[in-house]
Amino acid sequence: MREPSFTEIAEAADRAFRHNQLPNGVITPNKPYFTGSFLWDTALIAQGLACVNPLAASEQIELHMLGQHENGMIPNEVIHAAKIPLKPKYLLRYEQQGENVFTSNITQPPILVTAAWHVAERMRIAGEDSKAFLKSIFPPLHRYMSWLLLKRSDPADGLVMLIHPNESGMDNTPSWRAVMEREWSTDNQTPFERLIAFAGHAAMRRINRTTTGFNESDSVERADDDDIMLGYLQSRHIQTNDHDVRRILDSGKGAVVKDVGFNAITAEAGKALISMEVALTDNKHMVSNALHGALEKLYFGIEIGLWQHDKNGYYSIDARTGSAVEIETAANLLPLLTTGFPNRRDSLADNLTDPDRYWTALPVASVCKDSSFFESGRYWRGSSWPFLRSIFHRALLQQGYIDAAQQLRQRTLRNPYLQHFGEFNDALTGKALGKMPFSPAAAEALLYADYERREVHLSTD
Ligand code: GLC
Repeated sequence: MREPSFTEIAEAADRAFRHNQLPNGVITPNKPYFTGSFLWDTALIAQGLACVNPLAASEQIELHMLGQHENGMIPNEVIHAAKIPLKPKYLLRYEQQGENVFTSNITQPPILVTAAWHVAERMRIAGEDSKAFLKSIFPPLHRYMSWLLLKRSDPADGLVMLIHPNESGMDNTPSWRAVMEREWSTDNQTPFERLIAFAGHAAMRRINRTTTGFNESDSVERADDDDIMLGYLQSRHIQTNDHDVRRILDSGKGAVVKDVGFNAITAEAGKALISMEVALTDNKHMVSNALHGALEKLYFGIEIGLWQHDKNGYYSIDARTGSAVEIETAANLLPLLTTGFPNRRDSLADNLTDPDRYWTALPVASVCKDSSFFESGRYWRGSSWPFLRSIFHRALLQQGYIDAAQQLRQRTLRNPYLQHFGEFNDALTGKALGKMPFSPAAAEALLYADYERREVHLSTD
């Protein structure tokens, strides 16, 4: 398959963005399925859009930030509507944050911080006022990172703790499912929760269909009934405990995970915040000492707390039991973003590019190919996602694995299903699956096509 030109991709991406845009300008992941913006979707959309229009990209970030909570938390989902949605997706709890703005009470990997820095750099190169953007975005991003690292982390090791699987961005990944099944086993449920679970199971097919877009025909693709039921029990429980991680731990039940992917992405976001501080060099936009300290602690928390010597790899930690969740998913390789240990870095890159593990026809398999949980076309259970592809592309480039990054980019751009812009793809065939056109997939293609265009340019200079 021939690689489409930058212009072809830019036109197709523009059509996808317009298709998914709300009247107030927000580019949703997909319309009409989604009614607002998501945190890491917005980050990827902004990174792609910045290749053609950095100012528009900065506006997408600002629109999502309208959902920031008073305590600094940036929610995973911001719904722009006049009234609270009657049937919010994923059975989470939503609250009003501003006029026509409703948000969830959970967060998502903080890629928005890294994206804001990249967008500012694109603005600067395009001769736009990147400093004004940085000055307005730095304080709220600083508040968010401070909330994550000072309120949501374990003071013992500095690692951020997540309170819902959807916070990982990988809603039904098998590593979270294992913890959820244990926390919500029948003998751990109150009589009322048992009743909900019982009645819920009967109603689940219907609820699943109306709230998560589940169709009989996609049953192999999306989250299953148990994912939704367990997610619902967890949502109720975290709501009762005011979404406070310490109260949830003290309550004696409910999943709390030191998620490896989330923590690696947070460490990367910390570097972006420091880059912003350096670019601004004034005494009004500085990373606080407390946050500097927490970022350093996080870095060591990942290297000491998440690295398992006997398995030669990083794993999430179940915060309730303190033990590692030893299930092989691509999230375990995300410390490639930040690790400074050459042997760990090489082992992550070898693992990632192993065709029997994650380097499938269309990398990156979200679950290791030789795991019993692997299903090539299933929602976070093996399928290839634009989120992981683009993060690993960046990690490979930054760590100097230039050929592997090029392969990842070219396999994505040469995928015959590329321009369907699928929400996710079958990792073995590349087939586009889920909702489409999916804005983050269009943005990812733009990013890669822009990269290829610049490569050609450099090699002919
Ligand atoms: C699902 C995905 C999550 C994504 C969201 C919107 O919840 O698991 O990663 O951000 O949909 O696309």
